[in-house]
Amino acid sequence: MAAIKKIVIVMDATNNTTDFHWSALEVQMRAYAHEAHVPIIVDEGLALLEQIIRIQRPSKILEIGTAIGFSAIRMHQVCNSQIYTIERNQDMICLAKKNIQASGFAAQIHLIEQDALEAFDSVKNKKFDLIFIDAAKAQYTKFFEIYTPLLTNRGIVITDNMSFHGLLDPKEYENQSRSVKGLIRKLLSYRKFLLDHDNYDTTIFEIGDGIAVSVKKDEYANHK
Ligand SMILES: C[S@@+](CC[C@H](N)C(=O)[O-])C[C@H]1O[C@@H](n2cnc3c(N)ncnc32)[C@H](O)[C@@H]1O
Repeated sequence: MAAIKKIVIVMDATNNTTDFHWSALEVQMRAYAHEAHVPIIVDEGLALLEQIIRIQRPSKILEIGTAIGFSAIRMHQVCNSQIYTIERNQDMICLAKKNIQASGFAAQIHLIEQDALEAFDSVKNKKFDLIFIDAAKAQYTKFFEIYTPLLTNRGIVITDNMSFHGLLDPKEYENQSRSVKGLIRKLLSYRKFLLDHDNYDTTIFEIGDGIAVSVKKDEYANHK
């Protein structure tokens, strides 16, 4: 059986996204995501996420929104972090399991097959250095509130899709359907929630589809 044991990722310090060396599994996963319209993280956002992982060297990462396991595998590869990743969609779970198995990292990437709104008990005994939020956009504030109590001191929350494909531009609003308008309002409210949060310093980078990096303040930062 030709399981791929090791995926080699090489990215230069300039984050040149054209300079990756893809393994067969990654090529396959990207092709599948493209064909089946599974929204995996875009390269520029991934480059920022991976660089933060290189700097922080998290021992445990919690991901909300596994899809086919692409970002979970990539995050693990950066510095061998243990990954706990939550997915509720059965088709995605099935594909993620296969991909994680094929990556050779099944012992380090733990797939939690639940709705993230109900999965707190599955991880409540763990502490995470980094939480990556990349699931239903309407629930971002809830995910943040449920899981940040598990964040270590000066832990980091990274949230994808903060630009929502450019739809947060006020000029775009009126042309959207009712449901998209609802999502836009929820994302704008989440942006404000993050930026106003007393316990986190947040910067939103207009990279990829918009990446929010929220760093938990330590006790000294809180007394400034
Ligand atoms: C954008 S995709 C994740 C992409 C993945 N992080 C990557 O970059 O490779 C979002 C995934 O979150 C899942 N999802 C959405 N809401 C969820 C929830 N409440 N609980 C668990 N999974 C959820 C969806 O089924 C979907 O597979």
